[in-house]
Amino acid sequence: MRVLFVCLGNICRSPTAEGVFRQRAYAAGLGERIRIDSAGTGDWHVGKAPDIRARQAARRRGYDLDALRARQVCREDFSRFDLILAMDHGNLRDLQAIRPAGAAGELDLYLRRYALGEDEVPDPYYAGEEGFERVLDLLERAGDELLAEIRRRL
Ligand code: 4NP
Repeated sequence: MRVLFVCLGNICRSPTAEGVFRQRAYAAGLGERIRIDSAGTGDWHVGKAPDIRARQAARRRGYDLDALRARQVCREDFSRFDLILAMDHGNLRDLQAIRPAGAAGELDLYLRRYALGEDEVPDPYYAGEEGFERVLDLLERAGDELLAEIRRRL
């Protein structure tokens, strides 16, 4: 099972989604059976570590994002991953635009997939500290649901 999280910059939301879900996968004993990665639709931050605010907010909840580095999503990702999960509608549109015809990887909006009451993980980049806490709240709930889905599928 291979899961890719995608946002715009790959420095706030999707690396947080990656770190939060990786911790759940390992805690469930499935860390070696699930490949987990993240990417951005944009290329502005390629090679950079996650935003310091995202790293600090994550660290306060026990997630270490320091080793992650941003990369841009590419067409090959649709065959390298079984599930590609977008953080907002804009990300989803951008992914649909580059998705190769007949690609096997399933593309979905992360929160909508689990009917968590909202569709989007709000972009915290221009928001304050509370924006990053909100991102973590949403991604922890979604991570629990994704893990439950993968357990059923494995
Ligand atoms: P992300 O947040 O998509 O959650 O990584 C953003 C990071 C950078 C920018 C926008 C959103 N930016 O415009 O540079």
